[in-house]
Amino acid sequence: MTRDPSSLLAAAISARRAAYAPYSHFTVGASVISRDGKMFTGANVENASYGLSMCAERIAIYSAVSAGVRALEAIAVAGPEGVTVTPCGACRQVINEVNAGMKVIFSKAGQIKIESISALLPEAFAPSTLADAAPSSRSAPVR
Ligand code: THU
Repeated sequence: MTRDPSSLLAAAISARRAAYAPYSHFTVGASVISRDGKMFTGANVENASYGLSMCAERIAIYSAVSAGVRALEAIAVAGPEGVTVTPCGACRQVINEVNAGMKVIFSKAGQIKIESISALLPEAFAPSTLADAAPSSRSAPVR
């Protein structure tokens, strides 16, 4: 958790061992923690149909959410040793969806870094953006 970012990062590093990345050979692990201390992990899972591959971060988040745990406060991500890996753009969008105040933990030049998702995804398109549209300005669904 944000109170102990190094143990959340350690969990991401061990989760990485489960990665299935036969195409990119770039293995990633992630771990998320909820406000009440529940942790979920993920590793990237690729597919022969490349576009179906899924990032470690989204697997960790969807695992938490599908277990009924949505109050997530921090996510750690770890890639190959010595490589600074931060969440890709799609994962930033998903992180912002669960908590616009999420802390993102990663390693950079041997140091633990903690960034807020709002710094990594400024001016985000968010659930509140949809709520800002008046019902009359939304077009009818296609039938
Ligand atoms: N990947 C992740 O799992 N998380 C990231 O933050 C960046 C990219 C995965 C997707 C793909 O399986 C491989 O890394 C190379 O892009």
